[in-house]
Amino acid sequence: MSVAIGRYVCQVDDVPLGEGRAITLDGRRIAVFRAAGGWFALDAICPHRGGPLADGIVCDSAVICPLHERRFDLATGSGLTTDDAVVAHAVELQGERVFITLAAEQRAAA
Ligand code: FES
Repeated sequence: MSVAIGRYVCQVDDVPLGEGRAITLDGRRIAVFRAAGGWFALDAICPHRGGPLADGIVCDSAVICPLHERRFDLATGSGLTTDDAVVAHAVELQGERVFITLAAEQRAAA
């Protein structure tokens, strides 16, 4: 029996392949991405000047901020063009349902 590790946020069909969608979890804006390499979740606000990362271009394993094109690794949130970084959260699929565990919840459970 598998147990969901996170909280339900959307259906698989809600996020087209190669795109992101913004959701709110615990009052926190999270960008959920459906990339060719899998599903990822990052804090949705770019640390540079608040750009909406969910609207960014998904390219390989990164998202490109739509405002000034800084790149962030989808899996880790690390900045690929600067030292800026965003927090990455865990994503799990169960059938057609998408679940997210916030990074703070992962640390609390460890
Ligand atoms: S706001 Fe994202 S790169 Fe400037």
